[in-house]
Amino acid sequence: MPSVSPSITTMIRMDHTHVMAAFHRYHADSPWWRKRAIVELACTALEIHAQLEEEIFYPALGEALPGDDTLAKSKPEHDKMREDIAKLRAMGPDDAAYDARFMQLMREVIHHVADEETVLLPTAERALASRLSELGARMTKRRMQLVGQKQPAAIAANTMGTFPLASLALVSLGALAIAHCLKPAAPRRTKHYA
Ligand SMILES: [Fe+2]
Ligand SMILES: [Fe+2]
Repeated sequence: MPSVSPSITTMIRMDHTHVMAAFHRYHADSPWWRKRAIVELACTALEIHAQLEEEIFYPALGEALPGDDTLAKSKPEHDKMREDIAKLRAMGPDDAAYDARFMQLMREVIHHVADEETVLLPTAERALASRLSELGARMTKRRMQLVGQKQPAAIAANTMGTFPLASLALVSLGALAIAHCLKPAAPRRTKHYA
């Protein structure tokens, strides 16, 4: 029976898109509380995304492509991103270096995302073609658990409640569900009544 879950590569691309959308809402002349809310939203979404990739996507790709160079550097890049996120969280948005540090984080994220979108995801679509939906279903299930764990901390950090984490972390799920509903109907068995 064919799976109905969106593919894991589609989910990963949508996560990237939503983090970039949060980044584009960041403006140096915005009030500090707004900057902090956007940074916390982007950072928490990145943490969840990186953990999902490390638990589900990278191991599956590693089995299919042992020794792949781009894959080998992916986890260390996530670790560097986590270090940068910790430094950013330790700063106040009124710190003179806050804007520059967030821009530096996003510059690294953009490079990492470019490698994934131009190398790893197309490779996965060839090497894991028959497993993409199954892996997507696993990612959805795990995402729900991680959002549940992260949500209280994100709300605490986001005093204005302007950008609840769920709006970003779950938006992919909603968008995917809608996209799935709007997709041209896959060939399906229909009953014919004579
Ligand atoms: Fe990644
Ligand atoms: Fe990614």
